[in-house]
Amino acid sequence: MSERLTDKIEEARLKALAAFEAAASKERLEAARIEFLGVKGRFAELMKALGTLDKEERPQAGAAANSARGEAAAAFEAARAALERAEARADWLDVTLPGRRPPTGHQHVISRTAAEICAIFGRLGFSLVEGPEVETDYYNFEALNFPRDHPARDMQDTLFVSADLLLRTHTSPMQVRTMEKNPPPVWVVVPGKTYRRDSDVSHSPMFHQVEGLAVDQGLTFADLKGVLTAFATAMFSPDTKIRLRPSFFPFTEPSAEVDIACVLCRGRGCRLCKGTGWLEILGSGMVDPAVYGFVGYDPARVSGFAFGLGIERVAMLKYGLEDIRLFYESDLRFLTQF
Ligand code: DAH
Repeated sequence: MSERLTDKIEEARLKALAAFEAAASKERLEAARIEFLGVKGRFAELMKALGTLDKEERPQAGAAANSARGEAAAAFEAARAALERAEARADWLDVTLPGRRPPTGHQHVISRTAAEICAIFGRLGFSLVEGPEVETDYYNFEALNFPRDHPARDMQDTLFVSADLLLRTHTSPMQVRTMEKNPPPVWVVVPGKTYRRDSDVSHSPMFHQVEGLAVDQGLTFADLKGVLTAFATAMFSPDTKIRLRPSFFPFTEPSAEVDIACVLCRGRGCRLCKGTGWLEILGSGMVDPAVYGFVGYDPARVSGFAFGLGIERVAMLKYGLEDIRLFYESDLRFLTQF
């Protein structure tokens, strides 16, 4: 009889200790207290059962029951104190800790390069203007002296919005818009988005250009070369060499494509410059008199030059990037480097 009762006391002791230790909330702890230490709880029942024992057995079993209940009560107290301490910690606010800063953004590398390019031309006397990305055929092609059957006017190359509206394929239409609105002299640079049906590692359907236009009295090809040399040395490095190659654009005559000495091999020839030692960075030329005809300028009294450069191209050369698509993927591991 007493054997079984002492077993039950031991079992109640172990279960009570486990229950108090496991109670993760005040509610659970209270439920466990009622189950084991309550007026009708397990220990109360065991105490009552002591009365059924023989006289000789009672003292020993009674002592065991008392000690087990005492141990359980102590475990309950410890668990209650631990829960209270945890609760106090949760309420506690350390106002001296540094705040969590939300990550702040910064200028995109393309915006930054555009700003840098425009700042250089700003120091050379150019003002900044901007124009529409949705253009008419007239400004994008017609008034820039593109013939009717020029391939750039084809659906294969240009993104059309309607028969007469298109996404500008270059920033050059702003040459016409600027001269139309302002009498000479004009010295402007025009940064902005441009669009073409083209997509690979070095071409994106949307990309950025900076257009330049200077029309004044007596400007010559030497002024064009001087301005572009000043730009290249300021943008890349003071010893950057440039070279002009004869080229053709409908709106400039004569026209030149401008190369800078390879930024990697400095002209010796490498993979980047395909062994030539030179990298093309922009198109340029003297404004074709035919364009003056569209804006009412008198080619006998003014002359000027224009140029257009790709911002992505400049950024890729400046930072040694090989894939134009990196600019548009919004990958912070890439963008935060600049
Ligand atoms: N608009 C030409 C292009 O996107 C670049 C260009 C060439 C602009 C010659 C000019 C220029 O102003 O004079 O390919």
